[in-house]
Amino acid sequence: MSNSTQPKYRAKIVGAGSYVPPDILTNADLEKIVDTSDEWILTRTGIKERHICTREMSGVDMAAHACRAAIEKANWKAEDVEMIIVATVTPDYRLPSNSCMLQERLGLVNAGTMDVAAACAGYIHGQSIASAYIESGQYQKILVIGVEKLSTITNYKDRGTCILFGDAAGAVALERTTDDTGVLASFLKSDGRLGKLLWIPVGGTHSPYSEAHEAGDIDNGEDCLNMVGSEVFKHAVRQMGDAALKVIEMAGMTTSDVDMVVPHQANIRIIDALRKRLGLPEEKVYVNIDRFGNTSSASVPLALDEALTTKKINAGDNVLMLAFGGGLTWGASLVRM
Ligand code: UT7
Repeated sequence: MSNSTQPKYRAKIVGAGSYVPPDILTNADLEKIVDTSDEWILTRTGIKERHICTREMSGVDMAAHACRAAIEKANWKAEDVEMIIVATVTPDYRLPSNSCMLQERLGLVNAGTMDVAAACAGYIHGQSIASAYIESGQYQKILVIGVEKLSTITNYKDRGTCILFGDAAGAVALERTTDDTGVLASFLKSDGRLGKLLWIPVGGTHSPYSEAHEAGDIDNGEDCLNMVGSEVFKHAVRQMGDAALKVIEMAGMTTSDVDMVVPHQANIRIIDALRKRLGLPEEKVYVNIDRFGNTSSASVPLALDEALTTKKINAGDNVLMLAFGGGLTWGASLVRM
């Protein structure tokens, strides 16, 4: 956790990139698969469509696209990168990690690597780790990536979840600065007692696929995301709101100092509830859930990249990032661009 005392170094966002696969799954497509309607999905979630990978495209493929763009915008060379932090719950393999595979793919030969598993709050966790490394003086240039191929863990027979998720990658280049920009405050929190509100029962060592397959649990969607949506919804609104107020206070600011909020895109009603609690106008909250759905750890860096590219976020802006996910995990970060 950062605090408001002035560190010698800060982690500045010097580049961002993102990637979504070309294939689109619309609400009309979902109407043909499960008992749902475009009207229900749009009014209850704000989602119109989401992008879905082909069988061949992997998370590392998507992340590589996003990283190349972030590295180019940061004006770095591949050998400059000192640490790669990948947030994902859908790694290509259990071993090696996505971050190791990205290192190899992009020739980031001087980097250390780590994967972080904090579900939809994964990017905020990765950025907080990167910020702490940079503040400590240990590293100067770190890539943080959020990437998910959620289509592989989505049960397309369950209308309560399959309407929500999409595939995407987002990458952010963080670099040491000594000026008053960069990550000003970060806050992370979890409540492991609520883990089974959003979880994947099968596929870990506790319940390997082979055993579950024999028991018929895979046909029941136990190897996919299982969620008690209405409960997760309530926790998301409360905890992201509390975390937002906490980092604003840690940074010595008030909500009126926030120029743009980049929230995790889980549900437009969650985003609206947060906006109202913070007393912010619609134009100060970045929303792209209509086009991408919930892309878990890719959600915040994907939205951030879009907001930077479209100049909704500009140099000097105070940006509040918020995320919430399975675990349960959540976090917030206040960053001056
Ligand atoms: O990213 C990590 C964090 N994730 C989240 O934050 C997700 C949080 N949860 C949500 O976004 C919402 O809870 C959902 C969108 C998942 C569900 O919306 P809801 O308003 O909480 O619906 P519900 O689960 O309470 O269900 C209400 C009704 C039920 O019907 P009955 O029992 O009232 O007859 C559901 O069966 O809506 C029904 N329903 C649907 N109807 C049409 C649930 N899903 C659908 C659907 N289409 N896709």
